[in-house]
Parts: sequence; C-alpha cells; structure tokens
Amino acid sequence: MSSPLINGVPAERIGITDRGLHYGDGLFETMRVHDGRIPLWTHHWQRLSRDCRRLGIEDIDAAALHDEVRRVSTGIERGVVKIIVTRGSGGRGYRPPPVQDQTTRMVVPYDWPDYPAAHWHEGVTVRLCRTRLGRNPALAGMKHLNRLEQVLARREWDDPAVAEGLMQDDRDRVICGTMTNLFIVKGGRLLTPPVRECGVAGVMRGLLLETAGGAECTVSLEDLKAADEVLLCNAVIGLWPVRRIEERVYPVGAVSRSLMARLRSDGLLDD
Ligand SMILES: Cc1ncc(COP(=O)(O)O)c(C=O)c1O
Repeated sequence: MSSPLINGVPAERIGITDRGLHYGDGLFETMRVHDGRIPLWTHHWQRLSRDCRRLGIEDIDAAALHDEVRRVSTGIERGVVKIIVTRGSGGRGYRPPPVQDQTTRMVVPYDWPDYPAAHWHEGVTVRLCRTRLGRNPALAGMKHLNRLEQVLARREWDDPAVAEGLMQDDRDRVICGTMTNLFIVKGGRLLTPPVRECGVAGVMRGLLLETAGGAECTVSLEDLKAADEVLLCNAVIGLWPVRRIEERVYPVGAVSRSLMARLRSDGLLDD
C-alpha cells in the first residue's frame, strides 16, 4: 500500500498548530476504492467543495487533490481512501487567520474493513444509542471533523454482533446511524430523514435519493417499528439491510435486494 500524502508529500505527521487538530476546523471524505478507482469521486468532490465554501475554506487545490487521490488509490484492488482537509495552521484563538496560508490536505489509504458477508446477505443487527445528536443548521449535512457525538455513541457497545447504532435528535426523531444514513421502506416508498438540523448528507444517501426515487421524511421510533424494510448506507459499504433493531425483526425485502443488485452492478457494493 502506498504511503499517506500530506500536501502531496509522503508523510504521516501534521504540524502542532493545525486548526483541524485544535478546533476540528476541517472536513473529511471516506471513499471506496475499486480497482484503483474511486467510483463515487464526483459525488465526494462535490460535497467536499460545497462544504469548503460553507466553512470559508477557499484555497483548496482541486487538481492537486485529485492527483493525490489517484496516486494513493493506484494499485488498490479493494480498499478505502480518506481525505482530510483542514483550514491549515493558525495562531492561538478561534479566529481564522485573515490571510489563509495553506490548507492541509491529507490523503490516507486503508485496508478494506472486513465486514462479514452476512451483513449484506442476511442483514445487520442494530441498537438504539442513548447519545443524542445536537441540532445545528449551521453545521448540519457537512462531514466536518467534529465527530464527538459519533465517538460517544460508538463507545456505547462492544458486542461485535451489533453492526451499527441508530441516533436520534433531542426531539426523539431518528436521524441516522453512527457511520451510516438511514432509509425506511413504507408502503413501497423509500424514505430518509432530513439532515437540515443534524446528521451528514452522505454521498450514498444522495445517490439513492437521486436515482432510486427516495424522498425525505421525518422518521419517529414508531415509523421505524412499523417500517416494511430498513436499510443503512454509506459510500464504503454501499448498503446493509437491517435484520433487527432491539426486539423488532425485519425481512431483507424486495426493495433492499433490488437496490443492492443495482449498486453491485455499478461497482458500489461487492459482497
Ligand atoms: C455520521 C455519518 N453519517 C453518514 C455517513 C455516510 O456518508 P457517506 O455516504 O458519504 O459515506 C457517514 C460516513 O462515514 C457518517 O460518518
């Protein structure tokens, strides 16, 4: 596997004054690599550049970043490449430097996470997390570096039989998993919670909304229990059907199976 790159140079350490470290002042993308390519590159780049604009991180070098992603992905048959972009280094204090010196671009390769094939074929067991998501429209949707809610939620269990935990906001609305977006199937409709107040606007969520006729809809615990099918998605796993949430058992239904077949044929899911 090739070495991680920091601003295009093989390296593994960043400077002590980097604002990503001090304030979480930056963004990341976690991307699936298939035969040396990132099949969802355009989607990842669109989200990253849009969210850089939202944060006012302006001087990101798109051509250099794309070239670095290509260099790190080359030769990886199946794996994961992560991009981290931060506002770069800054003095002490929250105020961003008036003149931005240089953003920090990190491109890091990882082995494929060896999830059991049964996660796709039989569906996953999921728990409900106690940790809630705070509502904040200024940050909602972005894949920013402040992920402490997910860290706290993921600390809630260590049973390897539980693949994911669902998170609610402070109004009891179910929003997403710790590392996935949520869809339910109800009366043949594919529905996902809005991410205008909290949650991440995942690229796989976006793809399913665009191409599979999905729609946004608030989801309560009752909706979840009454759903015909439940599925979780992200750019790395593609999609996992949900087999069980607490005591409720779901089938791996027709909608999940047909979406997985489509993702498989597009190289976005392989088990
Ligand atoms: C909190 C959270 N929500 C949603 C997602 C799914 O995002 P994507 O489809 O872009 O991988 C992730 C992925 O890591 C995540 O960490």
